[in-house]
Amino acid sequence: MKFFIDTANMEEIKEAHEWGIISGVTTNPSLVAKEKDVSFHDRLQEITELVDGSVSAEVIALDAEGMIKEGRELAKIAPNITVKVPMTPDGLKATAVFAKEGIKTNVTLIFSANQALLAARAGASYVSPFLGRLDDIGHDGLELISKIAEIFAIHGIESEIIAASIRHPQHITEAALRGADISTTPFKVLKQIFHHPLTDKGIEAFLKDWNNR
Ligand code: E4P
Repeated sequence: MKFFIDTANMEEIKEAHEWGIISGVTTNPSLVAKEKDVSFHDRLQEITELVDGSVSAEVIALDAEGMIKEGRELAKIAPNITVKVPMTPDGLKATAVFAKEGIKTNVTLIFSANQALLAARAGASYVSPFLGRLDDIGHDGLELISKIAEIFAIHGIESEIIAASIRHPQHITEAALRGADISTTPFKVLKQIFHHPLTDKGIEAFLKDWNNR
């Protein structure tokens, strides 16, 4: 499983990128709205210059025509832009057009296996099931990853599964075990998975022994 970072914050992206673990970035309108001092276009430009992998940029229009227009503009920013569209009939119409034009897509806000299957058949490069938001309403987000991974394997579907709406380290381990291709992870959770008390204790003991030699 690869790591994408789920943020539009440049400091977070730079730091995670320096760790050498980031294969892509996902943004959404809520994440971009937090970045007050920069335009959406400029921020995407900055991100695509730093990160080689897929950078998801979400359309705001809700009609297919509007999504196609916005998506084509976003795709002009850099070759590694992935146009993110919502899981709606219009979103899938736009996805089908982008697929024919060779523009990569990430179909977002997926909450069922059938939605993932539809998105894949429309030509989505990535499908994004939202684990945390399902858990929030008492459903099992991880079970959804298992189902989608199994269906895609049975039918030889090549769309990649991005485990999204990640809330804690256990989501990452489980998403990897259940067959997600990618986890898009907030910076906070990436930092959490670095640490283990025995690693910290081990470093302290090694240094103590070294200094007492
Ligand atoms: C993914 O592409 C989404 O931007 C994101 O994971 C949503 O996460 P949230 O449910 O924490 O807002």
